[in-house]
Amino acid sequence: MGKWSIVAMTAVLALSLTACGSKNDKPASGSEASSGGSPEQVVLKVATDASYAPFESMDKDKIVGFDADFLDAVMKEAGLSYKLENVGWDALLAEMTQGDKSSYKAAISAITITDDRKQSSDFTIPYFESVNMILTKEGSTVANALELKDKKVAVQGATTADELMKGIMGDSNTNLKRFDSNTLALLELDNGGVDAVVADFGVVQAYVQEHPDKKYKAIYDKNNFAPEYYGIMLQKGSADLKSKLDAAVEKVRASDEYKAMYKKWIGVEPDTADLLKTK
Ligand code: ARG
Repeated sequence: MGKWSIVAMTAVLALSLTACGSKNDKPASGSEASSGGSPEQVVLKVATDASYAPFESMDKDKIVGFDADFLDAVMKEAGLSYKLENVGWDALLAEMTQGDKSSYKAAISAITITDDRKQSSDFTIPYFESVNMILTKEGSTVANALELKDKKVAVQGATTADELMKGIMGDSNTNLKRFDSNTLALLELDNGGVDAVVADFGVVQAYVQEHPDKKYKAIYDKNNFAPEYYGIMLQKGSADLKSKLDAAVEKVRASDEYKAMYKKWIGVEPDTADLLKTK
């Protein structure tokens, strides 16, 4: 074996050892210049709501899912240290409008980039194309979102599913039941308290597949539910962080690594044609 192949192998080994390190608490990569002469690199705190498999969920004390893998790849690419923390959805949304007052610099949680949210937070460029879907029981006659108007529907509050169903069912309709987490919305369907749940397609499809015994079905309604794009949410005025992360997101979302993590968590090959055109 030549000298260079040994050097190359050592490099590969070093890389794979890094990859084995603790997932949610990366050691400093060293590629970020430290300004104050402190040897310790700033660890970026990132918030999530780990109750939204396959994007983020708790596996014992570890946050796992597509978003966890994607964030890890982006942070490595950007040379930043980070710590992903499970704070819950409402706390996440509240934290991410606090600017400097919050200790969280970013949030990743299958968060759709909306005009409304852009008023009070910044976002990276999109990293995932999604759409809301209806989850209902096999015998249900519901064929589209408009037919949910007179049904009971569970959503996670303050999500795009909540917004969409408010539009169809009316803001004050008590048959639209809002839950703090999507897991609780799914439980309500399980318990027969509602006829349907509306949530992101990845979540709905995974749930159908994981519970074949419960005979759920997923309905895609492209007339009433438009495509949505997830971004990493940042505090308003994060121009520096945004430009670093945007460059990393742009690279990772076009990579084979992205395709592999998509396949791993979403179960199919991604069609990234539209995503890659977004800015
Ligand atoms: N994509 C939807 C939204 O941004 C739902 C996201 C919910 N995410 C979560 N981790 N619970 O409103």
